[in-house]
Amino acid sequence: MSDFEHVFEKPPEGAAADWTIPQNWAAYTEVEHQTWDTLYARQMKILPGRASQAFLRGLEALDLNAGGIPDFDVINPKLQALTGWTVVCVPGLVPDEVFFDHLANRRFVSGQFIRKPDQLDYLQEPDIFHDVFGHVPMLTDPDFAAYMEAYGKGGQRAASLGMLPNLARLYWYTVEFGLMKEADGLRIYGAGIVSSATESVFALDDASPNRLGFDLERVMRTLYRIDDFQQVYFVIDSIEALKEVTLKDFGPVYAALKGQDDLAIETILPTDNVITHGTQAYAENGGRF
Ligand code: PHE
Ligand code: FE
Repeated sequence: MSDFEHVFEKPPEGAAADWTIPQNWAAYTEVEHQTWDTLYARQMKILPGRASQAFLRGLEALDLNAGGIPDFDVINPKLQALTGWTVVCVPGLVPDEVFFDHLANRRFVSGQFIRKPDQLDYLQEPDIFHDVFGHVPMLTDPDFAAYMEAYGKGGQRAASLGMLPNLARLYWYTVEFGLMKEADGLRIYGAGIVSSATESVFALDDASPNRLGFDLERVMRTLYRIDDFQQVYFVIDSIEALKEVTLKDFGPVYAALKGQDDLAIETILPTDNVITHGTQAYAENGGRF
């Protein structure tokens, strides 16, 4: 992903040309499996009534609670049968073009490692809990599956046009930190939220952050922070609606963006569809949980 510094220029020792490595499931320790189980149980106390139907359905379809870290050889046939996606392991962050190529081919890249027992609440680099628990359930939804493939192809194009920073914001505010409207209220679908016990609550219940209706061009102008809870969340009407606006040609959007300044995170524009006008108290008090 483009949000972090890349550690490697080319595939490290032991990785294939497409940067994948074996999951080596048999090598996970008992403690590592327990870490998965602990994180899973903790999220399942919080997520019913908070996570989107699509996410909860996906979790169930993949049976990610079979005990311990999921074995990709077991979940991939199920995922592939549902939407044609598979999950592959990579040794860490990969170059953008490698990431996009995997997505364009319906392969989601996951970290192989799991966080240490003293890092349950926060870690900087995505581990297998974030990547698999957070991201993979949504890939069972046909519309989301199509969106993610299109994102991969769109990434290749945006890179050639110098628009990657803008496209990365779309990923950030949907795939990682997206909220959606459902009949019973707002729900979480972003992987960065559903995989975090604290942000799962903050994103929906806290008075601090702004919650704004999703608007493609607006999102692509909005800066984001990677080191703390978000100060703004964007709310989609449905996955289908997200797919519909993003499957259009971004040429005109990119052209319009060229003449516009980036927006600070807490900005509210007169044209915004404001769902919550946040107090920003959390960020103003220094944040960091
Ligand atoms: N429609 C975009 C383009 O024309 C591609 C894209 C699709 C990007 C879905 C992100 C998500 O470049
Ligand atoms: Fe992620």
